[in-house]
Amino acid sequence: MAWELGYAMLERGESDLLGFEFEQDVSLRCISCGAEYPPHPRLTRCPRCGGLLEVQVRPRRGLSWSLWERRPPGVWRYRELLPAPRGAAAVTMGEGGTPLVALPRLAERIGHGGRLYAKHEGQNPTGSFKDRGMTVAVTLAREAGARAVVVASTGNTAASVSAYAARAGLRSVVVVPQGKTALGKLGQSILYGATVIEIQGSFDDALAAVMRAVEEDPRLYPLNSFNPWRLEGQKTLAYEIVEQLGHRVPDWVVVPVGNAGNISAIWKGFRELHREGLIDELPRLAGVQAEGAAPLARAWSRGLDRPLFVDEPETVATAIRIGRPVNWPKALRAVRESGGVFVSVSDDEIVWAQLALARLEGVAVEPASAASIAGLRKLLEEGIVGRGETVVAVLTGHGLKDPEAMLRAPARRLLARSPREAVEKLLETLGAPAAAPAAQGGCREEATGEAPP
Ligand SMILES: Cc1ncc(COP(=O)(O)O)c(C=O)c1O
Ligand SMILES: [Zn+2]
Repeated sequence: MAWELGYAMLERGESDLLGFEFEQDVSLRCISCGAEYPPHPRLTRCPRCGGLLEVQVRPRRGLSWSLWERRPPGVWRYRELLPAPRGAAAVTMGEGGTPLVALPRLAERIGHGGRLYAKHEGQNPTGSFKDRGMTVAVTLAREAGARAVVVASTGNTAASVSAYAARAGLRSVVVVPQGKTALGKLGQSILYGATVIEIQGSFDDALAAVMRAVEEDPRLYPLNSFNPWRLEGQKTLAYEIVEQLGHRVPDWVVVPVGNAGNISAIWKGFRELHREGLIDELPRLAGVQAEGAAPLARAWSRGLDRPLFVDEPETVATAIRIGRPVNWPKALRAVRESGGVFVSVSDDEIVWAQLALARLEGVAVEPASAASIAGLRKLLEEGIVGRGETVVAVLTGHGLKDPEAMLRAPARRLLARSPREAVEKLLETLGAPAAAPAAQGGCREEATGEAPP
């Protein structure tokens, strides 16, 4: 029955959706109504019910870790499990292959006795995990004849799309919330040459606008995370974690959640390794949301099977300031299947975690990424994550993305009106407490509710 639907659609003038060739055996299925479709990049939502689609890639050869480890690190190292168009060059610039950084000082500070690692996605080409998805989806968009790529974004997706579109020779249009998009991200989109539409509204309003525009003009290709092709690139994050742990699976993977695409993609990645016999265990997933934008965490704590959407989401972590996460069915399924949990954290807890990462480990992330550490801390306190367990926190975006957040950190900033005064201040330094706010020279102290780490 399923294929009939796909073909009925094709008869309505969509015959060009046939015949897109992939290197691997690729299929496309709606997770809501079960309809199957010809695997074409232009299909990004179920034409019958509007549900989310899922891509399945079956490798044409047996897989082994040693096969992959002979290749350079990065997303395309895993091409046997990616929907690569046959005979086409990828739009790539070395995305993925990010370091797994041990966090021993932070682990001790939050009372975690086991091994704690950060997957530092800020080290991707545009500074966030989004690049993993874009290398795959922009490659497909170009091969499928897209004229322009469009996206609603809290900022990072916009930056990534703009960069990959530039590299592919495509136009890009990004819709971001006015006044709520971190400056680094906005600057990136501008520099890469995107058309930037600043909407007076939330991310959810921006996404609704993009979805309507795409329906009206199919030459606009949508790259939001409801696009299942993009999530195929993002799932490689899971493959890398396992490789970097020496082919072992962590007990927990902690992920900040906004539109809920990344956590869904990561789970898919682990499931595939399991299906291919490359791992024999699965991790538990913890999805972390900000209290003011926690539709999934709020529903989870009440035992509901649908999110409690938030009309006016608000949080310092602007990247996850999302009230109606479009991927919620995939994410809820992922967290359930993994035996995991959703949790929410306050802005003060996020800010504390951002400082702790920076000042105990030298790792700078934007506030949304610090949510994973804030969430882990809470789960440790609640006894949900065991103190001896191996945990990987996904640090989704670089600290440089949000300069205003960095500048709000309590700081020791001193003014020297002359070189001599600078020398005096330098010599006084060791006598003063480290990183304590000082009283002059433009220093600022924000109340975080808790002493800085
Ligand atoms: C830095 C950062 N962290 C987390 C997220 C949330 O990812 P997702 O929307 O896939 O849940 C985003 C999304 O914009 C992000 O930019
Ligand atoms: Zn459907």
